[in-house]
Amino acid sequence: VKRDLITIHDLSNRALEGLMDLADEIRPNLRSWRSELQGFLMGSLFLEPSTRTRLSFETAMMRLGGKVITSADVSTSSAAKGESLGDTVRIVDSYVDLTVLRHPAAGAARLASRYAHRPIINAGDGGHEHPTQTLCDLYTLRAEKGRVRQLTVMLYGDLLYARTTHSLARALVRFGSSIVAVAQPGLDLPDFVIEDLARIPGYALRHVLITDMADVLQRDRVPALLIDREERLPPASPDGAPVLHHLGAATIDAIYVTRLQRERYAPVDAARTLELPILDHRFLIAPQFRDTVVLHPLPRVGEIAPEFDRDPRAAYFRQAALGVPIRMALILWALGKASLPQGESPAPEEPAVTGFRCLNPACISVQESAVIPPEVTTLGGIPRCLFCETRAEPL
Ligand code: NCD
Repeated sequence: VKRDLITIHDLSNRALEGLMDLADEIRPNLRSWRSELQGFLMGSLFLEPSTRTRLSFETAMMRLGGKVITSADVSTSSAAKGESLGDTVRIVDSYVDLTVLRHPAAGAARLASRYAHRPIINAGDGGHEHPTQTLCDLYTLRAEKGRVRQLTVMLYGDLLYARTTHSLARALVRFGSSIVAVAQPGLDLPDFVIEDLARIPGYALRHVLITDMADVLQRDRVPALLIDREERLPPASPDGAPVLHHLGAATIDAIYVTRLQRERYAPVDAARTLELPILDHRFLIAPQFRDTVVLHPLPRVGEIAPEFDRDPRAAYFRQAALGVPIRMALILWALGKASLPQGESPAPEEPAVTGFRCLNPACISVQESAVIPPEVTTLGGIPRCLFCETRAEPL
């Protein structure tokens, strides 16, 4: 089988841990892996802006002795002439051994994997997922906190469009961790993520108003979504309204900050600004944050004050550096040069159904509906698009 990475659910927990173990082997001496992939070629097809992800993938491939071809300027690629993604991918795939794809539409990587004979790695598909950033995030948590299991992680910022938080939330819950989602008002985690988290046995979700963070969050009652094992959650209110919640001495192991993903807003919303407080020296005085590592997939555009960079808890630059060894491990696996423990598949069974279609304008299957038939599956009885995972509508 082709070793694609389209969603974080393509890798079991054991496989993720295996990748991190391999990255640990690689990390102390990046230069000693340069004969591993001699003669191999990677295509990096970035049809949306990127610095870190593309350069860390290209660095990883070259450190393994492989070579890289890049198409990173949307305006000079054939997509600008109206070529379908399927056609572009077919060509690149026929040149290289492995394609890394970033694309502005949700589901683009899934579509690409349909056309490619060789592995496709999703380097971000619209507002959907960014599984290799999650590899880097989990690896950073393991390096900073010594484990990826049973952590408490606060997700902070634009949780609706920040695809990094979608893949990360899915992975954290699989490892038994707790999530405190503090979203910019109106930018909560999307339904496809919520529905997926809610199906994890023993887990439940609770809308709360945090009552003891006024000092740092500059408000008495901060709306948050707790995603946790049922027994750890405060009791629900009978009418489903948010319940008052005292974080108390609960330790937050990590806070994962994201920027507003302006490029995904409708033009009317593009002028929105960050309403949540900026992370600065005041923020982490709260006792819950004493041992909190601060992560950010970067780029930051003002969410974290530069003064905070000197704080030992600021882990975002260490996080970016870890992107190279973990992507080296991923490439070795994708090209069949490393095997990973199998483990139980985290992806639920999703039978295909007909009679529905996707209406999400940000989905590749809608944007390229002239060449792609709709594909709809059901999860817990809800029909959803196979590409972008949003609810599908009757035909
Ligand atoms: C992120 C992305 O592209 O989703 N960047 C990255 O890959 N490190 C985050 C972002 O753009 O905000």
